[in-house]
This record gives sequence, C-alpha cells and structure tokens, in this order.
Amino acid sequence: MLQAKIAPSMLSSDFSCLAEEAKRMVDAGADYLHMDVMDGHFVPNLTLGAPIVKSLRKHTDAFLDCHLMVSDPAKWVEDFAKAGASQYVFHHEAMENPSKLIDTIHAAGMRAGVALKPGTPASVVFEYANKADQILVMTVEPGFGGQSFMMGCVSKVKELRDRFPQLDIQVDGGLDLNNIGEVAAAGANVIVAGTSIFSSCYACYPE
Ligand code: DX5
Ligand code: ZN
Repeated sequence: MLQAKIAPSMLSSDFSCLAEEAKRMVDAGADYLHMDVMDGHFVPNLTLGAPIVKSLRKHTDAFLDCHLMVSDPAKWVEDFAKAGASQYVFHHEAMENPSKLIDTIHAAGMRAGVALKPGTPASVVFEYANKADQILVMTVEPGFGGQSFMMGCVSKVKELRDRFPQLDIQVDGGLDLNNIGEVAAAGANVIVAGTSIFSSCYACYPE
C-alpha cells in the first residue's frame, strides 16, 4: 500500500537556522525533508552540497530526500551517502546510463530516485523505473523555488501511475492547496512544497 508523504523543500527555509527549521517542519508533520542541490550548471542556480546535509544530519533523524540538479550526479553519490542522505534523486537528463547509477546509489545504502524535467516524456524511464524507488515529476523548470505550477505535467503523473502502481511518484514545483488535489488524483503520493508551506507558518527569525 502506497503512503502519502509531504516533503517540505528546505530551499524555502532560513538557512541561517536550518536545524531549527528542520525541527519545525518535522514537528508540523513533515514525512521527508527535501534538500535541493543545484550546481549552477545543470540549472542556473547554486544552493547546497553534501557538507550542509552532513551538518543537518547531526541535528535530525528525519528522512533526507536529496534532489540533485547537477550535471554529474554519479560524482556525488559517495559524499551524500557519507553525509547521511536517505534518498538520492538524480535527473534522467543528466545521465547516459541511469540504470547503472541506480545500482550505485543502492550499493551506497540510499534509496534511488529519478527526476524528469517538464519537457522530458515519461516513457524515457519505462524500461528501468522498476529498479528505482521513486520517480520525480517536476512541475516547474528546475532551478528556483516560487515558480508557477505547470498543469501540463499532470498527465505524466497519470501515465506513470497507470504503469507502475507500486512506485513512489513525487511531484515538485509550485504545489499548494489549489493543485494538490489534482496531482494526488493523478496518482502522485509524495508531495514537495517549499513556498506554500514556509509562507504559511512563522519564520524562525522573522524579518
Ligand atoms: C525547484 C526545486 C523545488 C522547489 C520547490 O528547482 O526542485 O524543490 O524548491 O519550491 P516551490 O514549492 O516554491 O515551487
Ligand atoms: Zn526539488
């Protein structure tokens, strides 16, 4: 039986008090903490890497769901495993042999996920999706929080759910109370939300 999970994107948190922000999310009912890793090359933004995950791990037992928006995802598997990441989600578009990378991630002791940009069809993962623990359907162009949800990506969720009834299907980007029903009805069971969650509760250090 698939479980519904809520994964606040820590990209919308106050990084100066990340441990407190993480605790606040867990106390509020978060199932995962979503960590957006950007390298300034695969996407036009820079965020965080394994050292931050390692620091946060000292303060929480939470499931750390790491979303790697990087050009060379194979390069960082070991670092993230050592840092205490629970799940390593890489982009299909960044890999020539995604299936092999799933094996490497599992061997390092993490769950493996594969992400798809809005323009990438669901069919690219059909032949190896059963090896993965999760498929992430991006509902914005990766790179920044606070963008508008792309309704056109919902049919991809449905296509994947019809073929893979047991797979975790995650959605990420622009999710809020206005569209969560739609993606859940299409079959998504892991919901990432940054702006909508963090803007609806008090900041750690109010500005
Ligand atoms: C975008 C990131 C998302 C983003 C979600 O590239 O992968 O995780 O931070 O934030 P919102 O919910 O604000 O779109
Ligand atoms: Zn993300």
